[in-house]
Amino acid sequence: MCGIVGYVGPKPAIEIVSEGLRRLEYRGYDSAGVALVDAETLSVEKRAGKLANLTAAVDERGGMTDPRTGIGHTRWATHGAPTDRNAHPHVSADGRTAIIHNGIIENFAQLRTELESAGIEFASDTDSETVVHLLSAQLAEGRDLSEAMRRVCRRLEGAFTLLAVNADHPGTVVGARRNSPLVAGIGEGEYFLASDVAAFIAHTREAVELGQDQVVTIDASGITITDFDGVAMAGKPFNVDWDASAAEKDGYEYFMLKEIAEQPRAVADTLRGRTGTTGEITLDEVRMSDQDFRDVDKVFIVACGTSYHAGMVAKYAIEHWTRLPVEVELASEFRYRDPVLDRSTLVIAISQSGETMDTLMALRHAKTQKARVLAISNTVGSTIPRESDAVLYTRAGIEVAVASTKALLTQLAACYLVGLHLAGVRGVKYADEVAAVVAELSATPDKIEQVLAAMEPVRALARDMVDADRALFIGRHVGYPVALEGALKLKELAYMHAEGFAAGELKHGPISLIEPGTPVVVVVPSPRGRSILHDKVVSNIQEVKARGARVIAVAEEGDVVVAPHVDHTVFVPRVPTLLAPLLAAVPLQVFACELAAAKGHDIDQPRNLAKSVTVE
Ligand code: F6R
Repeated sequence: MCGIVGYVGPKPAIEIVSEGLRRLEYRGYDSAGVALVDAETLSVEKRAGKLANLTAAVDERGGMTDPRTGIGHTRWATHGAPTDRNAHPHVSADGRTAIIHNGIIENFAQLRTELESAGIEFASDTDSETVVHLLSAQLAEGRDLSEAMRRVCRRLEGAFTLLAVNADHPGTVVGARRNSPLVAGIGEGEYFLASDVAAFIAHTREAVELGQDQVVTIDASGITITDFDGVAMAGKPFNVDWDASAAEKDGYEYFMLKEIAEQPRAVADTLRGRTGTTGEITLDEVRMSDQDFRDVDKVFIVACGTSYHAGMVAKYAIEHWTRLPVEVELASEFRYRDPVLDRSTLVIAISQSGETMDTLMALRHAKTQKARVLAISNTVGSTIPRESDAVLYTRAGIEVAVASTKALLTQLAACYLVGLHLAGVRGVKYADEVAAVVAELSATPDKIEQVLAAMEPVRALARDMVDADRALFIGRHVGYPVALEGALKLKELAYMHAEGFAAGELKHGPISLIEPGTPVVVVVPSPRGRSILHDKVVSNIQEVKARGARVIAVAEEGDVVVAPHVDHTVFVPRVPTLLAPLLAAVPLQVFACELAAAKGHDIDQPRNLAKSVTVE
């Protein structure tokens, strides 16, 4: 949420910063802006709307290519409408200092009143602007930019990543972070600060993780890190293991299409080296011993959005395989109640970005109650893994499209690994039973590939439904979270009213929504084994069909019972019921993407959304 980039080095800063913003635009696209420092002059340009508006404004100014120091921001609006005036950077009254901010300054009202009483006139409606005026006051008292930043940070409450430049400190960018992401990059005689390594991956893969409540200065001498009191701190160096091409579209029209297509590879990578040929699960890098897993007597899963849907599926699987009680809760709700946790509770925090504030706060809440926290995340070095006791990284690779696709499938794979490992070490399942599921799990990448190869009818169906303004999604058991996910994808991409329901709940109210022609997407369980579940869903199909619904079923290949009762059937290969979401979710992603494209919407950057939600 909000992308931030800063640069000091020999190259034109505008080029590096603009390229960084392009790679970070998925974090927010309400406005974009840059501040550049050259020979004691500060130049600022900012525009509401997408990055292209800023680029046009910079071009009108002749490209602004002289300065070698700069900061840039792409905004997801919190305080203040997405206008030019609220766009970052914000500039001090003397025009010599500029800041950009990601997060929320919670005590901004009190700070603003104080600054206004001192005669400062605000030029925006944002909380962020308070920072630049506080910083300017510190600089006016003769402090250098780093010390001024430390003093200001000590006064701020809330979440913030800040970058600042000042015309009297050419060649210096100062950053600060609390509860919001910031990483540094080390190039050849050049240094970067950014919310995400994607911003500088084209220039260096050498990065430094910054800790909580730290101030970082980049200048010609390198990177200096302190805490808010000025005590020197060491950053944690790491190497980024993917390259710039991973953040390009590779010939696909949208990132989302590329990321959907990458799913077989992403799931295979998440499983690689973690499953043995005889079914053993190796989670060495998780930093939890077998005994730690044996000590667990309850599992609590916290997450948001799509990651929450992965957690819902995990509940069915982990309970079935381990016989441990599993609760799953939206992270934003979890932290405001008094969940019953203790040292023997394993809290699994699922977050693609590793930065979602709701999930971060939930994990902190869990830790205060002494629970052990295992993060499942796609982002190495991000805050949630860093603050957890243990981490299992999904290996989806960078996910740029705002709507999650490969993140979901890799989170499911990671949850299955945790569940099977728990079952194995706790001796609840025999080794050969675990081995059988592991073999099925290992075969899913090929089956996802088969699903993808058969998607043309789904795309045609989506185009045919371009005029639909709503849709219902229903499922039972693990099909229920898949239905919720299908509805979420359609809401966020096609801006349609789409709701997911447990199929059995329809008759308790939502069935009144069905009118002739209402599209109802049904996630049908396998007819094998648990056929009662299948029978019940077929009954639910008949109930909606009787009221005129247009029914689209996602069913297992060979399911001859369903087809006569529905208008369209999308078949997916056979897998054990608990693994079925890995396949059933895929047609729903393709359906939402194609329908949104047919409606002419922006697929990778749907309105009002941002990729990494770093506010509560
Ligand atoms: C939906 C989507 C969001 C995220 C949610 C959690 O397509 O992407 O619902 O799943 O914001 O994000 P992470 O997993 O980064 O914590």
